[in-house]
Amino acid sequence: MNITYHEQNRMFKLDTPHTSYCIGIVDEENFLGHVYYGRKLSEDNLTYLMRTKEAPFVPSENNRDRTSFLDTFPMEYTGNNLGDYREGTLAVRTLGGHTGVSLSYVSHRIYDGKEALEGLPATFGEKESCRTLEITCEDQVLHLQVILSYSIFADTDAIARSVKIVNAGEEAVYLTKVLSACMDMDNEEYEMMTLHGSWARERGIQTRRIMKGKQSVCSVRGESSHQEHPFMAWKKKSTTEEEGEIYAMNFVYSGNFLAQIEADQFGSIRAVMGIHPDNFCWKLEAGESFQAPEVICMYSAQGIGGMTRNFHDLYREHLIRGIYRNKKRPVLINNWEATYFEFNTQKLLDIARQASELGIEMLVMDDGWFGHRNDDNSSLGDWQVNEAKIDGGLKSLVEEVNKLGMKFGIWFEPEMISPDSELYRAHPDWAIQIPGRRGSLSRNQYVLDLTRKEVRDYVYDMVAAVLHSANIEYVKWDMNRQLSDFGSYGLPADRQGELLHRQVLALYEMQDRLTREFPNLLLENCSGGGARFDSGMLYYSPQIWCSDDTDAVERLSIQAGTALIYPLSTMGAHVADCPNHMVGRVTPFATRGYVALAGTFGYELDVTKIPEADRNMIPQQVAMYHQYNDLVRQGDYYRIAHYAENHYYDCYEVVAKDKSEALITYIQVLNRPNFHSRRIHIPGLDPDKTYVIENTEDWPEIEQTQYRGDALHYAGINIPPIRGDFQGRLLHLKAR
Ligand code: GLA
Repeated sequence: MNITYHEQNRMFKLDTPHTSYCIGIVDEENFLGHVYYGRKLSEDNLTYLMRTKEAPFVPSENNRDRTSFLDTFPMEYTGNNLGDYREGTLAVRTLGGHTGVSLSYVSHRIYDGKEALEGLPATFGEKESCRTLEITCEDQVLHLQVILSYSIFADTDAIARSVKIVNAGEEAVYLTKVLSACMDMDNEEYEMMTLHGSWARERGIQTRRIMKGKQSVCSVRGESSHQEHPFMAWKKKSTTEEEGEIYAMNFVYSGNFLAQIEADQFGSIRAVMGIHPDNFCWKLEAGESFQAPEVICMYSAQGIGGMTRNFHDLYREHLIRGIYRNKKRPVLINNWEATYFEFNTQKLLDIARQASELGIEMLVMDDGWFGHRNDDNSSLGDWQVNEAKIDGGLKSLVEEVNKLGMKFGIWFEPEMISPDSELYRAHPDWAIQIPGRRGSLSRNQYVLDLTRKEVRDYVYDMVAAVLHSANIEYVKWDMNRQLSDFGSYGLPADRQGELLHRQVLALYEMQDRLTREFPNLLLENCSGGGARFDSGMLYYSPQIWCSDDTDAVERLSIQAGTALIYPLSTMGAHVADCPNHMVGRVTPFATRGYVALAGTFGYELDVTKIPEADRNMIPQQVAMYHQYNDLVRQGDYYRIAHYAENHYYDCYEVVAKDKSEALITYIQVLNRPNFHSRRIHIPGLDPDKTYVIENTEDWPEIEQTQYRGDALHYAGINIPPIRGDFQGRLLHLKAR
């Protein structure tokens, strides 16, 4: 890991363990150009790649007489309205109404470690394990400084980029667009990979050829969203799971975003990522600064899987915090699918009693315990226990649960307000709304205007009071509607465009407060399932509810798409009842357990009512979780086969970092008549080690022998035919 500046060549070079990233300063105008990102290079001087003499880019020679001259140049970060017609990353409007911005290099600094981004989630690193380059550029007319930051890490191949804008002029300016990263490169027939979905169908992987023009994913819903994800990768067509080049960007942010690749007239692409410019306008007074969120840039020559494992390592080591970051989580049982709104103390204790006997370690009381909430039409904002349901009060309920040897957790939706609530009746102006317009409801609720300090303090204090009132060790922080009607009674007219970003900053501030005041709390974020499963939220909570779809088959896709970027330790996953409440499918209880094992693992069913045979399986499943969770949480994840592609089976693997063991999950989704076994290849093992099947009792059909790591990878192993659909098996390999 190193960052250097070569005075003579005017070139910066960032070296991560396996990649190099080069930035050059060119021409008399000191433009900052992107020179190279890819495999690690020993060469320091790549200025010959910069095409500075190729017309029309020779600003100092053509004296700006060709309006399109910036169009060909690979910019490191761009201005606006001065002759680069590709997507710009920064746009401003002066008080006079003008818009041009042009950025030139001014100075730089290189230092050990990484500074925090004020008010924002971001990766972090120690002085010994992380280095940062800060390049200051300036628009000399506006006196606007743009500080580009790049941090690299000793142990992973990521580059964390962010941008800070400083108004060093004497007048306010309006920032109308501030994206966080830009990367220009030649298009080598790249394909773009993105994640798409809907409620209960989050993060399906889509790959498409990059065509001329712009292709993007975005959210303008005020959260990172079910529909599209703040992630994109671009790779060569030949790149596979295990081989070939891939680039990626992931936004460490939970609100509106734009992730876009533009293929231009000269065969180059420009990839940009940042806060979506729609409905964004930030007034920057003289002397003030604006910090844009972080983008993680990744390059791997080890295929899609290489990219995945880099992200997992980075987020586990440099993003997730708190006491649970590297700890086994208690096996929980959540009452949502068990009871929905129909529960009381008695019912919860019945579930807890039965669950504790089976080895389950925590009861989570979901939606419906507060105000007079008996369905989803009321009471959000009234965070007082409904003693008609929780007779005896919360403290006594928690004590009873604790007596059973179980922890207790609780659900909140702090960002929301129901029209039918005491809070709304007292403060109707606390909802986000446009004066004079009837507000749009969703799930019969409005969003609280958290940009107002009095609102977020009030709500925070209510939540904190509940948490102080009993021994509560887990919180599920939910958020069940997208934002609309962007208007705030608290912001002046010329700052209404700040609402959406300020709302995200307020959420971060509240979660920061919560995690500081309750450092031992296990926090799980959630948003109508997985609409805010993003790296921004992972800075505050080590796990996020992945999806409201708990069907084992649907979960295979949702979890594969989520694990493309996020570690398995972060994926909220439960064994739920059947027929599945979302899709009506019946899958074996054992299979549901194997699929949930790839995430945090827990239960979401009425354990007093499920079939006895299923109930009897729970102690075994809990033991399985305890046996494998260290490996699942900390190991290297490999996708082996995906049923969405092959239509029949799914297979993935987690290998211990020291290659001493591996756990392979095999799910036969659909059976077909075949007397032949199925060959699968098991990557990631030590080619020189010998492995044996540890759980031999699960594999009576396989001849028990010793396997070499390279044979398991390149020659493979035969999985015997299994009768039936939705059948799951684990294969536990141990090095001798
Ligand atoms: C969301 C969550 C669910 C559940 C309900 C409660 O949909 O994703 O798990 O908590 O809210 O209303």
